[in-house]
Amino acid sequence: MLILGIESSCDDAAAAVVETVRAGVATVRASAVANQDDIHRAYGGIVPELASRNHVITLLPVVQRALSSAGVSLDEIGGIAVTRGPGLVGSLLVGLMCAKGIAQATGIPMVGVNHIEGHLLAPLLENEIAMPYLALVVSGGHTALFSVEDYGRYRKIGSTRDDAAGEAFDKVAKLMGLGYPGGKVIDDLAKHGNRRSVRIPRARVKGAPLDFSFSGVKTAVATFLRSHDARATRTEDLAASFQEAIVDMLVAPTLAAARETGASVIALTGGVAANSRLRECLAAAAADEGLKVIAPSLGYCTDNAAMIALAGGWRLLQGGCDDLTIDAAANLPL
Ligand code: KG4
Ligand code: ZN
Repeated sequence: MLILGIESSCDDAAAAVVETVRAGVATVRASAVANQDDIHRAYGGIVPELASRNHVITLLPVVQRALSSAGVSLDEIGGIAVTRGPGLVGSLLVGLMCAKGIAQATGIPMVGVNHIEGHLLAPLLENEIAMPYLALVVSGGHTALFSVEDYGRYRKIGSTRDDAAGEAFDKVAKLMGLGYPGGKVIDDLAKHGNRRSVRIPRARVKGAPLDFSFSGVKTAVATFLRSHDARATRTEDLAASFQEAIVDMLVAPTLAAARETGASVIALTGGVAANSRLRECLAAAAADEGLKVIAPSLGYCTDNAAMIALAGGWRLLQGGCDDLTIDAAANLPL
């Protein structure tokens, strides 16, 4: 079955055509994304109103781009999978209305997909992974550990108590005057920095070893920047020290979760999964315990519609279909 995926939960407008043979086994025929970083950069973060207004302009051309690069027409599409939450409600509505419009006009069945389910299953786009597996979802909006037990059966076993890890990267980059989004800039600078030059305390959540907390790290960087030592410290060194703290705070609970669930595979997913040091440290720590880390290619780590098509695909293949009255849900639980 050929599935058209549509994703617009945040600031990326994305569409993909994915061929699904059976649950979780899929070939990506095309995956297109219209990125809005240039629009939001001036504000140092995402402006929801601008995100949705730009989706209105870019989403349909992105859908057309995905269809034409896959070399298919709507007649050949067997199902539509669209993100219905969680996310920015205005952004979600643009994608959902687009999907409903196509479904209404063509009669193609449509299913609403939880964005987090997309991230959890994204590693399956390029790998066969036996379930259950452990997934660390780490993005600008989410930082959580899930046991992926089956399609539709996801058990949350840990999450952040405050900021998401990507949010910490973006806020610290803003404090350091590095622009938006901050993750990639810090990752690149950190490659030339000394990871031990600035002391950044690692936070642990008392009594909850599988949970995360990143707000203290952000405060530690802010305090350091106001201190006397800041002027004598290279940007690269502060970036490397901050990044190392975040990486340590992601790796420890993830390994603890793998031990607790008995998982042999850890899937790393979400925008921060693009971080080179996180990939390196998690893989090394996992290898020490005989575990394997699987991270998608960068284009499937960040928001994309191929993962949404895959996550909607297993339900469409079973004949699942949502009513056209489904609504966007900013806080949709998984
Ligand atoms: O998954 P995503 O595209 O959107 C959300 O659903 O949030 O993730 C975007 C986040 C941003 O916070 C960005 O700074 C972060 O991923 N990010 C990175 C890197 N590339 C993107 N963080 C650390 N290192 C990177 N290389
Ligand atoms: Zn995301």
